[in-house]
Amino acid sequence: MDRLNNPARLMIVSDLDHTMVDHHDSENLSLLRFNALWEANYRHDSLLVFSTGRSPTLYKQLRKEKPMLTPDITIMSVGTEITYGNSMVPDNGWVQFLNQKWDKNIVMEETRKFPELKLQSETEQRPHKVSFYVDKDKARDVMRALSELLEKRGLDVKIIYSGGMDLDILSQGAGKGQALAYLLKKFKAEGKLPNNTLVCGDSGNDAELFSIPDVYGVMVSNAQEELLQWHAENAKNNPKIIHATERCASGIIQAIGQFSLGPNTSPRDLKCSSECKMEDTNPGHEIVKFYLFYERWRRAEVENSDQSLEKLKAVCYPSGVFIHPSGVERPLHDCISAMKNCYGDKRKSLRVWVDRVSSAQISSDTWLVKFDKWELSGEEWQCCMTTVILRSRAASLSDGFTWMHVHQTWLEGSGAKDQTNWLF
Ligand code: GLC
Ligand code: MG
Repeated sequence: MDRLNNPARLMIVSDLDHTMVDHHDSENLSLLRFNALWEANYRHDSLLVFSTGRSPTLYKQLRKEKPMLTPDITIMSVGTEITYGNSMVPDNGWVQFLNQKWDKNIVMEETRKFPELKLQSETEQRPHKVSFYVDKDKARDVMRALSELLEKRGLDVKIIYSGGMDLDILSQGAGKGQALAYLLKKFKAEGKLPNNTLVCGDSGNDAELFSIPDVYGVMVSNAQEELLQWHAENAKNNPKIIHATERCASGIIQAIGQFSLGPNTSPRDLKCSSECKMEDTNPGHEIVKFYLFYERWRRAEVENSDQSLEKLKAVCYPSGVFIHPSGVERPLHDCISAMKNCYGDKRKSLRVWVDRVSSAQISSDTWLVKFDKWELSGEEWQCCMTTVILRSRAASLSDGFTWMHVHQTWLEGSGAKDQTNWLF
């Protein structure tokens, strides 16, 4: 919450499964497009919020399977758990609030009366969320009968049906929408209400997000019937909500453009860095651009020419140094020359992305930039915490940066088995 001193320029609140994450895209291209856009153009002054139905256990599992960024705020278990930052510090005030008119034991007792309800796995049963599977054709009746029974027992609950199979019973104050409203209220009290908020979803438990006043909303092209139906019945005339024509994260990028919320060209959509317009240059942009070239070089997706390596050398300070995570220190120029032998060595397999880019200006023309640099190659995931010193080439940032110094250390537990394979 305290990462930004000013109101966020944009706050994106996105569902994960089938919204940010496309389970039908084994190459994760739309997610990687979004990641590059976010780190290049938004991370420094905007907020990323993930809002998922998953419990902390399944959320952490997804992060190991898909190249996802680290959000500023994580809302889990259908808006019943809110945590902050990379270390996921829980919001205890939210937990207190959800205890009102809620008794998990009574929910368990009453739901046993419905043989149609099949309890989900233990990990998905949370203090303020009880979850089942139920067939589409039985969902409506069960929901009606159950809410009557629970009301008679003095509880105030919310029953949500998602993905044509999941039935969640939550404390009435919970839900993705309520959790977002709670966050907005907190930001407002601090004088940091985001300039714009964009909510993104695909299924029933996301509907609430779209009913929060003043937010923009995108239902991705692959949205579920239950969400589209909710929209048709409740929000059809709201011009701030669109049904994208693109799937998942690409639909989110599409909405950023359609609502003019900021830059909407992912650096991944530009064939070469010279195509990049420099108007939005910031250290994050420079880092993303550099590692994109590096990925494309090793995938043989850019031209194999001495010229491109010379161009890369030209942005490195002649006596600049790279400290490899193994501890070996080499001139930056030598490291770039060494790339010559690695052209196309990871055809088809390598993906590179950066996460949590942050920068601090340390003198009139120098920036200290920190980020996590990830490589995914086949089944192997590797990450280095990276520090780079960048110097702007002229008074104006649009003239680009010179790389002065690079220092990497393995993220705990992520050391490369074959360290010679790790170039940058
Ligand atoms: C996620 C959760 C599940 C929940 C569903 C819909 O899949 O793991 O418990 O029912 O989202 O909210
Ligand atoms: Mg979803």
